[in-house]
Amino acid sequence: MAVPLFDTSTPLAPLRERLHAKLAEVLDGGRYILGPEVTAFEAEFADYLGAGHAIGVANGTDALTLALRALGVGPGDEVVVPSFTFYASAEAIPPTGARPVFCDVDPDTFCVTPETVRAALTPRTKAVIVVHLFGNVAPVAEIEALGVPVLEDAAQAAGASAADGRRAGSLGTISTFSFFPSKNLGAFGDGGAVVTSDDALAETVRMLRFHGSRDKQTFELIGHNSRLDELQAALLRITLPHLDLWCDGRRAGAAAYEEAGLGELVTLPQPFPGTAPAWHLYVVRHPEPDELAAALKDAGIGHKAYYRVPTHRQPAMRPYVDGADLPATDEVARTHLAIPMSPVLSREQAAEVVEAARAVAANRMR
Ligand SMILES: Cc1ncc(COP(=O)(O)O)c(C=O)c1O
Repeated sequence: MAVPLFDTSTPLAPLRERLHAKLAEVLDGGRYILGPEVTAFEAEFADYLGAGHAIGVANGTDALTLALRALGVGPGDEVVVPSFTFYASAEAIPPTGARPVFCDVDPDTFCVTPETVRAALTPRTKAVIVVHLFGNVAPVAEIEALGVPVLEDAAQAAGASAADGRRAGSLGTISTFSFFPSKNLGAFGDGGAVVTSDDALAETVRMLRFHGSRDKQTFELIGHNSRLDELQAALLRITLPHLDLWCDGRRAGAAAYEEAGLGELVTLPQPFPGTAPAWHLYVVRHPEPDELAAALKDAGIGHKAYYRVPTHRQPAMRPYVDGADLPATDEVARTHLAIPMSPVLSREQAAEVVEAARAVAANRMR
């Protein structure tokens, strides 16, 4: 049995009829931009997260730039961001006029810590982007206690919770989500959201997503045209109520890997104590990741190295990197490998992946 790296279609199968009916309803309704579906989804998503406001935007990258601008980030400022993340986490900073300053991660969790952030702070730091990478919940409160506002990049963490039960995306000053189709809460095209409980920040983000205007008559800011559209919002309203169940399935998949003995063969990702990660991706570490990848390939098992070249080593980031030394980032960039994960990963599939990994260990013993 081949095991895919992820499976977005099986969880959606029972919802297909409702999704198709909703699609027809929105098409026939004739409201496509900032209509009732966006308003309703924003209220439902904010409610789900336990936050005051959710503002639908065009994608998770715009969400980051708009959130930074709402925080007042601009020319002359620095924003601390991990290098080991999807490129967009840092790419969203220069459009504000500010500079990204790269910080290291904890190799066991793949997330930033108060120590790695503190090492990158300067008097010019205006905000910190904390990425809940792979759905693991980073220690936001401890980082915000350093005295800088935290923007949570929760693109990969919809459905994750902190130790006190609060949702990832409701822990910092402001947060951002991506609804890219393969995400835990995926749309059927691009989409994103900015989330905050601060009324003034929410008001600014609402203006920024619509050309810097409150009323389409007076334009107070140089804004953006960045909106979640009605079709995506309408479909997300159907999938959102299933997010918790899907994340339970992901956590069950992770437990199945552990029970099948995967931890004896590779280094498993570590959740922060007490948190409930959403395991958007299940990423392990191995000293010879190419050998592991080859064994998985031979067994028909999906796998992928997501960030072999970390962001601070990407060509476009050269102007912002002066001698950054990020040893843990370089280490995890070299050794990580994503293995299959989905809401419907079965015990049998997990066992099959572990068997393939065991073959690598056996070969190395010879
Ligand atoms: C951590 C992280 N931040 C930001 C983004 C950007 O989201 P989008 O692709 O919706 O622009 C992504 C998604 O790809 C992501 O994984």
